[in-house]
Amino acid sequence: MSVTAEKFQISEGGARFLASPRNMLIGNEWTAPASNRYFDVENPASGEVIAHVAEGAKEDIDGAVRAARRAFESGSWPRMSASERGRLLWKLADLLEDRAQEFAELETLDNGKPLTVSKAVDVPLAVDLFRYMAGWATKLEGSTIPVSVPYAQGAEFLAYTLREPVGVVGQIIPWNFPLLMAAWKLGPALASGCTVVLKPAEQTPLSALHLGELILQAGYPEGVVNIVPGFGETAGAALAAHPDVDKVAFTGSTEVGKLIVKAAGESNLKKVTLELGGKSPNIVFADADLKAAVPGAANAIFFNHGQCCCAGSRLYVHRSVFDQVIDGVAERAKQMSVGQGFDPQSEMGPLVSHDQLTCVCSYLEQGSREGARAIVGGKRIGDRGYFVEPTVLVDTQPGMKVVDEEIFGPVVTAMPFDDPDEIAAVANDTIYGLAAAVWTKDISMAHKLARRLKAGSVWINCYNVFDAALPFGGYKQSGWGREMGRAALDLYTEIKAVTIQL
Ligand code: NAI
Ligand code: MG
Repeated sequence: MSVTAEKFQISEGGARFLASPRNMLIGNEWTAPASNRYFDVENPASGEVIAHVAEGAKEDIDGAVRAARRAFESGSWPRMSASERGRLLWKLADLLEDRAQEFAELETLDNGKPLTVSKAVDVPLAVDLFRYMAGWATKLEGSTIPVSVPYAQGAEFLAYTLREPVGVVGQIIPWNFPLLMAAWKLGPALASGCTVVLKPAEQTPLSALHLGELILQAGYPEGVVNIVPGFGETAGAALAAHPDVDKVAFTGSTEVGKLIVKAAGESNLKKVTLELGGKSPNIVFADADLKAAVPGAANAIFFNHGQCCCAGSRLYVHRSVFDQVIDGVAERAKQMSVGQGFDPQSEMGPLVSHDQLTCVCSYLEQGSREGARAIVGGKRIGDRGYFVEPTVLVDTQPGMKVVDEEIFGPVVTAMPFDDPDEIAAVANDTIYGLAAAVWTKDISMAHKLARRLKAGSVWINCYNVFDAALPFGGYKQSGWGREMGRAALDLYTEIKAVTIQL
């Protein structure tokens, strides 16, 4: 493991974007914040400031919600033909694809992830999500329903349902996949005819704001998409508590998810969807193809530096192959090239912020106090940027913080198991339920376990496989509702029952 810190190179479009302070997008105008305050955005590989971004707060959120409300009620968006709405989503995908390199560079600069990953994963998945949702715009149908109405003998009715957009939606997103999370949120909202106020994370506001430029270029009507960067406690809280927002969709910590629910309840009982934390079990059986399971287990935890809500952070391995698997994952960790994201060799970048570094390091210290042993990794790398060693902890057990709590860093706790019949209960022994994985050649056992695991996604002989068509979300305290797929659209629409007496 070594950290490289060469200077980054970014293309002209990105450089131009960074050169001046970035304002908020409200009613299709780039608008200065009411406070006239701008916050620093830094490169987590070096701690250097790379941009200044408008610090939106309550007044700005109010303005953005008014713009979104006007766009919704004037009908410029919800009553635009579904085909035209779909075409605008497709156009956004095309514009994003044309500028994939520039967006990948901004993402790497802002979040720290390797450019190879931004280019291969974040941007293409965002493009694909917009295209997938573009197709849905014309397919959100109601149904005709035979009704019997027992107290109206002899009367005839025609009854049908309309599927209508829920209204003005507030969307609050995190920093681990900044552009992709914006796409997951905007795609279904726009396909179903909602208007949006999007608040990117304060650590990584750049790609969402840059996307705002493409939204203008594509020709979206005024106020359909509003983007207000700012801090959680101010801008985010104002959005969640706003009495004229019909739904809030949030991705982030379980702790803040609970605050969102409270704010929604205390204001106007707006609809809430939540995609929260996880502590996902990754289970390797004795008969698994270890040539796939070992790199799979490493990828499950080290991808995106462990900053994934679905990271495979609890690795359960059958005792008969435990040493072999753990040594293999540790070897992979040792070989990983950790460095700034613009280095083409780099497989893992820095954590996103100093706060996140402190948080992950304090888990590592706590783990070691509680008796966990790092067979590889276990500490920060260097003192510039927020790099942490990919870490495998053994001698861990339930009750330890490192086993029970989401670390959100490149740290896996590995535990052997003996009885395959008991592993579902062990895997489910968590407050979370976002994802789980099973590695085995026994297909019957794999399918049985897939049913027993309390998680929104179960991967068999793979990990981190995402698709715009597949619903993603959590059981238990990992959230409410689903992102992507048809399931996401249901949560951006209301169903209206219309009954006519004939
Ligand atoms: P966070 O939950 O505080 O931040 C996520 C988003 O919520 C950001 O846009 C933030 O500005 C906003 N926010 C924060 N406080 C808010 C409030 N009171 N009202 C409305 N919006 C608010 O997450 P943070 O502090 O960045 O990370 C802490 C931990 O959360 C991580 O260590 C990780 O465990 C978890 N996390 C989970 C994510 C996921 O994908 N499910 C993503 C990011 C963090
Ligand atoms: Mg927070």
